[in-house]
Amino acid sequence: MTTAAQVLKGLFSAAGLDDPYQYYAELHQLGPVCLLDDGGPYAAVVTGYEAADQLLRDQRFRVTDDAFTDERSGSGWREHPLLAVLNNSMMYSNDSRHTQARRLFHQVFTPRRVVDLEPAVSQLVDGLLDAMAERLATDGKADFMTEFAYLLPSSVVAALLGIPQSDLAFFRPRVERINDFLDVTGKTDEVLAAADQATVELSEYYRSLLAERRAAPEGDLISQLVAAIDAGEHQVSDDDLISNLLVLFNASFVTTIHLIGNGMRLLLDRPEVRKAEVPAFVEEVLRYEAPVQFVARFSNEETTLAGTVIPAKQLVLVMLGAANRDPSRYKDPDIFDPARTDVKPLSFGAGPHYCLGAALARAEGRIAFPRLLERFPSLRPAGPPVRNPQQFLRGYKSMPVAP
Ligand code: HEM
Repeated sequence: MTTAAQVLKGLFSAAGLDDPYQYYAELHQLGPVCLLDDGGPYAAVVTGYEAADQLLRDQRFRVTDDAFTDERSGSGWREHPLLAVLNNSMMYSNDSRHTQARRLFHQVFTPRRVVDLEPAVSQLVDGLLDAMAERLATDGKADFMTEFAYLLPSSVVAALLGIPQSDLAFFRPRVERINDFLDVTGKTDEVLAAADQATVELSEYYRSLLAERRAAPEGDLISQLVAAIDAGEHQVSDDDLISNLLVLFNASFVTTIHLIGNGMRLLLDRPEVRKAEVPAFVEEVLRYEAPVQFVARFSNEETTLAGTVIPAKQLVLVMLGAANRDPSRYKDPDIFDPARTDVKPLSFGAGPHYCLGAALARAEGRIAFPRLLERFPSLRPAGPPVRNPQQFLRGYKSMPVAP
């Protein structure tokens, strides 16, 4: 009988990059939680929807914080600016460091702020569509990823934070160097050195922006974050804030690209879904093609999940992309159907680390897709799309389109 470790090997191959879902279906047959006995980095893989949801909400399961990293690989990681920043951010913190950072961000990054940002998102979408229209008029085709999907999320997060749009040319390549390292296959010394350098440069940028906004506050998130810290109500230092801003920018940019790209691909391939109700379409895109395919957790104690005993202090791979296609949660999970009801994808995670920007990402999708279709009602593929080579972030690198 095939083991979960063997299926995972296939999943993390070129065939799995192309179509992970055949492997997820095999894993579903082996059970919602499977132990891996291959001596690899992960002790178990969770693919069942209920089990993944339960694990992510269970406070015993922790993100890989500095204590975990110290135990695993010594303290050498602290010399690397990128690793120090990541471990200092909410994404890789547990307990009080995590709750303090979340509390600060929740105070200013409110649902109201997302609503207030929507006109700016619409404007940014229209500006990018104008540029794409020009490209289509001159070249007869355009790369949707380069011309639109790649540009919108970083412009939106810049508008949210208060980073001038003119500084994005500085930001994007540096964020990408960090992203290169975050992929499971990207962990070489060279990639880390480039990501470290990018982290230093971005941290310096943020440090001077914090000083500027302290001296002359504006209506943006950074001004409000600094004001909240200076009011003395939060145990978050400037260094902590910079780590969190760096991670937030990265987390918003590299993921939303794929919500937009994956949604566009579905609109191009299946024109019949163009009539779907927009929020339901966005939700089904998130379920069907989760931009973030997996996250990792560990527990300091032995834990039983869905009847399987997970050993203490071992990494567990939580496959969000597989949980979203769990046949015991969704009927015919491999069919894209925006008319489904009760769609609650795990694409933004669950529990204490639930995505801070989920409402903003959904708003970007809700605003972008109808405007795209209105502007280019006959948009069609102009060649095969090229996949993003990362297994962790599922989406496309390029997607040629014609008017
Ligand atoms: C479609 C777009 C997005 C997807 C699929 C996505 C996905 C996720 C997932 C799965 C997590 C949980 C990670 C874990 O449990 O370990 C997460 C966390 C996070 N996301 Fe998003 N995200 C998206 C957009 C955004 C945006 C737009 C922002 C910011 C404006 C953002 C900021 C964050 C932050 C700061 C965290 C860490 C939260 C914590 O650890 O407490 N994300 N995201």
